[in-house]
Amino acid sequence: MDFHNIREDFPATNDSIYLDNGIASPCPRPVVEAINKFYEDRMLYGSCASGSQLEVYENIINKTRGLFAKLINAEEEEVAFCQNTSDSINKIVNVIEWEKGNNVIISDLDYPSITYPWLKLRKSGLDVKIIRSKNWKISPTDIEDAVDERTLVICTSHISYFNGFKQDLDFLGRLARDNNVYFLVDAMQSLGAFQVDVKKSRIDFLASNSYKWLLGPFGLGQLYCRKELLEKFEPVDVGWRSTLNMVERNIEEYELDVTARKFEVGGLDYASIYGLGVALEYLFKVGISDIEERIMELSDLLVEGLQKLPKVSIMSPLERRYRSSIILFNIDNIPAKTVKDKLKERKIIVGTQRRETHLGVDLGVKVSPNFFNTKSEIELFIKTLSKL
Ligand SMILES: Cc1ncc(COP(=O)(O)O)c(C=O)c1O
Repeated sequence: MDFHNIREDFPATNDSIYLDNGIASPCPRPVVEAINKFYEDRMLYGSCASGSQLEVYENIINKTRGLFAKLINAEEEEVAFCQNTSDSINKIVNVIEWEKGNNVIISDLDYPSITYPWLKLRKSGLDVKIIRSKNWKISPTDIEDAVDERTLVICTSHISYFNGFKQDLDFLGRLARDNNVYFLVDAMQSLGAFQVDVKKSRIDFLASNSYKWLLGPFGLGQLYCRKELLEKFEPVDVGWRSTLNMVERNIEEYELDVTARKFEVGGLDYASIYGLGVALEYLFKVGISDIEERIMELSDLLVEGLQKLPKVSIMSPLERRYRSSIILFNIDNIPAKTVKDKLKERKIIVGTQRRETHLGVDLGVKVSPNFFNTKSEIELFIKTLSKL
């Protein structure tokens, strides 16, 4: 794959070096064109260009649903569209039955999309075990040690929002299945950049949003629920989209759909779903394994460069198997925000990241290249940093 040709689809690369994909990726040109076209048609023709509204929109939804299912090696009926990652996770957290004395396992590298729904239940007596990071990673064996006969769920980010730590999903999936424990994964920082296989990793539930490595729009979450579990769970919320017969307007009763659509309540963001479909086709064309290889090469270069700078301390794991292309670091005596602002003046876009833990506040500069970035951009970034 020639990654240089791809840059034309990302005008954000024209006059700056965009290294902030862990916050949000720029949308490639075809995705924006598709979303614009959707609204142009709506402006010109009303609710849709041809056919009944439901049929046309359902075709769009089902096409994207199929593409998303392919991305994670799931089946179409196992995927629902939601508002965001947090919405998807709440939908699952709130249907898992538990009693006082049960516990769930999360970590201090997880995003609030995982943390807060469980902390809410802690107030009513659920034991939430928070595994603490050591050397900027969560040891899978620390999670293993925390599992006991009262454990209900192992819940983890695949890749941490904070420092890009990459969790071993295969290990945790096996651990969960062997112990009869649910396995819930927040894949927001990995889908589109790293291969995820829900079957291979024995994932029961997976949640994400579209606007990072998936190159799609804001406000469009996905929820995967393993087929065997769909029957077991009755969603907290219900609406016309959750039912078997979506066009029925029954005043006395309803029948829940048997697929993951039971988690979709009402009308969806059709334009965004259309845009996500185009983004997924784009990613498949480039190739997810090529993307993964490419961004890990850039990550290697980044870490090598940062390690050579005497005043830099890296707050991400260095071992390749635990690393992604989100790298967090600090420079002695220069606040993270100042580093970010100075880089922006030089047309290099990075982010900052903070988290509050029982030990205090951690804050760093977050740099996260994507496949459209080049090696020379990383080299220029390191050179510029060395002169700050
Ligand atoms: C791992 C992870 N999960 C979830 C989110 C965002 O959650 P939501 O889609 O609910 O806005 C982020 C945002 O940075 C994230 O990094």
